[in-house]
This record gives sequence, structure tokens and C-alpha cells, in this order.
Amino acid sequence: MNERFAADWLTLREPADHAARSLALLERLRKEWCSADKPLRIVDLGSGTGSNLRYLAPRLPAPQQWTLVDHDPELLGRVRAPVDARTARLQTEQADLRDWDLPATGADLVTASALLDLVSADWLDRLVRACARDHTAALLVLSYDGSVSWTAPDPDDEFVRTAVNVHQERDKGLGAALGPQATEEAAERFRQVGYRVWIEPSSWYLDAASLPLARQLIAGWGNAAAEAFPEQTGTLRDWGARRVEDLRSGRTELQVSHRDLLALPDAPR
Ligand SMILES: C[S@@+](CC[C@H](N)C(=O)[O-])C[C@H]1O[C@@H](n2cnc3c(N)ncnc32)[C@H](O)[C@@H]1O
Repeated sequence: MNERFAADWLTLREPADHAARSLALLERLRKEWCSADKPLRIVDLGSGTGSNLRYLAPRLPAPQQWTLVDHDPELLGRVRAPVDARTARLQTEQADLRDWDLPATGADLVTASALLDLVSADWLDRLVRACARDHTAALLVLSYDGSVSWTAPDPDDEFVRTAVNVHQERDKGLGAALGPQATEEAAERFRQVGYRVWIEPSSWYLDAASLPLARQLIAGWGNAAAEAFPEQTGTLRDWGARRVEDLRSGRTELQVSHRDLLALPDAPR
């Protein structure tokens, strides 16, 4: 079953995502993989409305040629370029990643943000094989790693976290999802084909100032946990109301752990 993501949710999370991303990996990518004299061909998988493009395009050398791939035409219809057309040429491609063929792109860099935890082991195998064959770098960012911590704990936090992580491993359209294991699984596969791999944290830190994002996140967790454990729906609703109020009043802050991964072929581009 394909999971759909609302444009409003992607808009809400974009500032937190951009603030969380690893600058160290970006710097390494720029130094070791990008050159100003050759156009950089970039494919963004599961692009949504283009948050990853908006982050990377102004921070990578020009010229760039971007292909944004997503199965949701509504999200693709909202993509807008962050820089002028001479710096980054842009095309969108509506495709289901289940059947999507990386070799057709001849990309220098494959990137994805907030996608890796949705994919299966088989899908990852295919992606890594295609990257290795085409000598393509990979920057896979903002993958949820299963850890959530609150500065002031609540007795039901751990149940919710565990239930959400169970839900994370369901099929989201690309086979049984790797969920919190995704970054490690990707790292292992890239190393096996001779890539150099770096992983850095890219956590969200949420407090009263991030209440709109936190409110939706908590609601989403409550729904996901209730799908996995329907008999606990009442407990989950009460927990959600308590946690929103705790954040709003400043009684607690929240860390949601994500990871960024950069994988580079051994030989230079
Ligand atoms: C969590 S959202 C992240 C979107 C965007 N990368 C961002 O950071 O805002 C996951 C994206 O993957 C897309 N997606 C999920 N499954 C897909 C599939 N099977 N084929 C193509 N796109 C898919 C969704 O439509 C959505 O845009």
C-alpha cells in the first residue's frame, strides 16, 4: 500500500529538516565529489515538493541538473526552483519508485530526504547496485533512527515509541520497510560495493516554539501506534493530549533522532 504525504506536513517539517541536516556531510560532498567545471546531475528520489532541492541547490556548485522523482503528482505540481534556471535546470518525473530504473538517469548524485526509512531491503539492494554500476554518489538524509527522547518523561512515552517503530516496519509501498534500521542497512550495502560511507546525526529538537510541527507529529504517532495496537486507542489519545500540553507549557522538550548518510565511490568523479 503506497503511503501518501500531505503537502502541508512537508511544508511544516521543512524548516526543522533544513536546520537538522549535517553540514559536515555537505562539506565533504562538495569537496570530494563536486567540481565547478562539470554540471552535476542530481536525482532526488521521493522528492515531495522539493525540500531537498531547496536545501541543496544553493549550497552545491553550479551548474546543476535536477530530476525530482515522486509518485504523487500533486506534490510534484508544487515543486518550485530555489535558484535561477541557469544555476539549476529542473525536471520532474512522476513514477512509482517500486519500478523506477536508476540507470536511465546517469546521475552523479542520488539523493533522498526522509525516504530511506520507507524502503525495503530488496529496494535498497537495487539502489546500491545501480549506484555502484554507474559510479554514482548517494546522500540519503533525515532517516528516522527509532530514538525519541523527552526531557521530562511520561509513563506512556516508551509504549508509543515502540508501537511507532513497529508501524515503521510495515510495507509503505516499497516492500516491508527497514524503518529505524535503514541507515545502517544502507551503510553496510554501500561498504560491500567498495564505497566510503559517513553517517552523522540530524535530529529534530522541538520545544514550545515548534508546537505546530510537534502537534502534527504527536497526532501522527498516535494514529500509527493505534493502527498497530487498536485496543490502546484511548490511552494513545490521552497521551497525545498530555504531551502537546507539556510541550506548549514548556514542561518538556523533545528530540527525534534522524541520521544522514553520505556514500562516495572510491575513485574520484
Ligand atoms: C516523508 S516524504 C519526504 C518528501 C521530501 N523528500 C521531503 O523531504 O520533504 C516521502 C516522499 O516519498 C514519496 N514516495 C513514497 N513512496 C513512493 C513511491 N513508491 N514512489 C515514489 N514516491 C514515493 C512520497 O510521495 C513523499 O513525497
